[in-house]
Amino acid sequence: MKIYLVGFMGAGKTSVGRLLAGRLGAPFFDLDELVESSERMSIREIFAERGEPHFRRREREMLRTTQHVETGVFATGGGTFTFEENIQFIQAHGMSVHLSAPFSTLLRRIGDKAAERPMFRDEESLRELYQYRLRYYKMSDITIDVRDDESIPEVTERLFMQLPPDVLGRLSRSPRIQR
Ligand code: S3P
Repeated sequence: MKIYLVGFMGAGKTSVGRLLAGRLGAPFFDLDELVESSERMSIREIFAERGEPHFRRREREMLRTTQHVETGVFATGGGTFTFEENIQFIQAHGMSVHLSAPFSTLLRRIGDKAAERPMFRDEESLRELYQYRLRYYKMSDITIDVRDDESIPEVTERLFMQLPPDVLGRLSRSPRIQR
């Protein structure tokens, strides 16, 4: 069983994913990190030197390799779950969880690390991108609304509580994990 965390930049996919995986005793994978290590470059460098289409191709390919992993929690990039092919793949291979946060929260978090995020140009175009992508994120199996004042452990706990029992059973290696 695989869980794919989807949603816009700054939603907390990596932090929540890592914590959730620990809670479940399941392995954690970050799609962006997998692309970075296979290209031996940071995301920022990949965009700058090879361009966005190259990044999207590598992202798509890396996502496909996850079919060989039986159990795990995967943090996707903010753009992954906005392409038809990727959406269909995720729907066929696991459960998608949308971490949904208000735009103001995302903007504040993205602003702190703007240099690392090539999709961030200015507030207006970011807002448009966010609006455009919502239609795709809404296709996910579960949506977790992340509040501005909520900590990563709180969000993770809420997500954990919303996992269907059969998913929980198939995800965790330890029979002792219970709610
Ligand atoms: C992107 C989001 C980033 C990363 C890349 C492109 C996007 O991931 O995949 O910079 O298109 O929104 P995070 O959502 O983890 O920042």
